[in-house]
Amino acid sequence: MHRPAIILGIESSCDDTAAAVMKDGKILANITAGQEVHKAYGGVVPELASRAHQQHIVPVVDSALSRAGISRADLSAVAFTRGPGLLGSLLVGTSFAKGLSWALDIPLIEVNHMQGHILAHFIQEPDNTIETPTFPFLCLTVSGGHTQIVRVNDYFDMEIIGQTIDDAAGEAFDKIAKIMGLPYPGGPLIDKYGRAGNPEAFTFPIPKAPGLNFSYSGLKTSVLYFLRKELAKDPAFIEKHRDDLCASVQAIIVKSLILKLKTAAKETGISEIAIAGGVSANSALRNTLLDTGRKLGWNVFIPKFEYCTDNAAMIAIAGHHKYLKHEFAGLASAPSARLPFGNG
Ligand code: KG4
Ligand code: ZN
Repeated sequence: MHRPAIILGIESSCDDTAAAVMKDGKILANITAGQEVHKAYGGVVPELASRAHQQHIVPVVDSALSRAGISRADLSAVAFTRGPGLLGSLLVGTSFAKGLSWALDIPLIEVNHMQGHILAHFIQEPDNTIETPTFPFLCLTVSGGHTQIVRVNDYFDMEIIGQTIDDAAGEAFDKIAKIMGLPYPGGPLIDKYGRAGNPEAFTFPIPKAPGLNFSYSGLKTSVLYFLRKELAKDPAFIEKHRDDLCASVQAIIVKSLILKLKTAAKETGISEIAIAGGVSANSALRNTLLDTGRKLGWNVFIPKFEYCTDNAAMIAIAGHHKYLKHEFAGLASAPSARLPFGNG
């Protein structure tokens, strides 16, 4: 008789406490608790994040299990985010996962957060409706901490072929939003206001970096100088032009991402193209990628919204594939804030 692989995934690398339950690669429950406490500070405060994870982890795991209709005794393994991320945050998920693995006597599985974002493309829905990419594919991974083009040869055989040399794309969204006086995280707000704005209202220089790399710190500075100049003439400039400013900034970031993705597709000859990470929730990026894909004959893969930003379903699917390979960790496993991408 087939014994199903039932994996509990736990994610706590930044400011979302998340748990998911997956059975044979199909998602049964995916729960995420965000942290409002950081809004007042304009960014994530590591110490507060860690404390909030401690408050959320037990109820989040319990509600994922009950939503899935799975008891702890049914679990085959527990997978957790080992890094990269904030050490104090990672420590909460890691300790919890280790405790559970020991108490239930089930395997413990380490997951690299960035690989999790990419493997989100393999999360299957219970009705089998998700079309998954074929290896090798290219994945543009864009989050608050990373901007990478990854050549994905297999589930755990991934190669970074381009990345940011300074700020990440999500960081650029958030920092520019902050300059405009918008609360943290500003990325989703720039997206929201940008929908009503004209993307050609203001022009900013398109960020340049060598080869397949990206750079966003220059864009942030040019927006800052532009706004300072305009605000000196009209203190209400930002309020008056909020939607156009958001649309224009977003258009430049999206343009620079798509430009490098086109070069990468051309250079590698790969036309299976995916996006992942928090910024892949951006509507302009999603639409532009679909348009570009139609024009260039790409097979485009865009995750469901709930699998773009940090979530535990992506940790569970990565855990599922490691479970099949019997790649388990020992109780000495420790979180790593700067966990390298690696191949495992
Ligand atoms: O992957 P993620 O949830 O966490 C990290 O691993 O960093 O990504 C968070 C980032 C933030 O910078 C946030 O502003 C950005 O993703 N983001 C967006 C959108 N939704 C989230 N940026 C632009 N448009 C969005 N709709
Ligand atoms: Zn992330």
